[in-house]
Amino acid sequence: MIAVERLRKSYFVHRREPGLRAALRSLVHRPREEVKAVDGVTFRVGAGERVGFLGPNGAGKTTTVHLLATLLRPTRGVARVAGYDVVRDDLQTRRSIGLVFQEPTLDRDLTVDENLRFAARLWNLPGRLAAPRIAELLGQFGLRERRRDLVRALSGGMRRALDIARGMLHEPLVLFLDEPTAGLDPRARRSLWELIQRLRAASGLTVFLTTHYVEEAEPCDRVAVLDRGRLAALGTPAELKRAAGVQSLEDVFLARTGHPLAEPSAA
Ligand SMILES: Nc1ncnc2c1ncn2[C@@H]1O[C@H](COP(=O)(O)OP(=O)(O)O)[C@@H](O)[C@H]1O
Ligand SMILES: [Mg+2]
Repeated sequence: MIAVERLRKSYFVHRREPGLRAALRSLVHRPREEVKAVDGVTFRVGAGERVGFLGPNGAGKTTTVHLLATLLRPTRGVARVAGYDVVRDDLQTRRSIGLVFQEPTLDRDLTVDENLRFAARLWNLPGRLAAPRIAELLGQFGLRERRRDLVRALSGGMRRALDIARGMLHEPLVLFLDEPTAGLDPRARRSLWELIQRLRAASGLTVFLTTHYVEEAEPCDRVAVLDRGRLAALGTPAELKRAAGVQSLEDVFLARTGHPLAEPSAA
């Protein structure tokens, strides 16, 4: 369902050096530094699989998702999602995927229902199709009783659920979730995981999520350890632990990268 080969995204940033001499020199020549946000990753995700990209801040998780979701153009390499080349067939790719951003993008001054209806219009879903689909999603995501409430009145967990429901509106084959439970309390986090699990069981949906929580990576079919734009390991949680000779994914991370998960990887 996802096939990625030697994918890279580089940014060229101006280096800033301290001191007057450096400042004067930079008037003539501003050295540019290559930041490889995603540095040549290769992997495949099968239909119906749930894969988690585990890595600290700055590892390249969001960049990877945005490349696969056609929001960024790769510097190098190729990626296919649902059979479509993300650069050449960007429109078809976008129709095949649902994307839930790291930062929620709901309108807080609209109701739950209005947010979904607005999204349905953006997807060009005719009203007679949109209404039953919205009703179905509200039920699935436990939002039926809250449909007339403003988004700002919802708890963080419910807001996130709505965000995901909206991502599912056009019945995508692949759902990208960028740090879906960051900032939620443990209970809201768990209920959201259960929700994602049910969704997948019901529809055969392929789920690609990013996280810096090992608890969120643990229930995934396979986990990719991402660090400084590179894949340090990829396999089932059990395989990864066995291969590294450790008991936890935290220790897998440490063994494969040489530093703990909790520290940001960008130097
Ligand atoms: N537009 C950009 N310009 C320059 N550097 C960027 C840009 N976007 C991301 N980066 C850098 O790329 C690296 C990976 O970022 P990101 O994909 O957001 O990581 P994550 O989502 O894992 O926290 C970081 O070092 C970040 O600073
Ligand atoms: Mg991110």
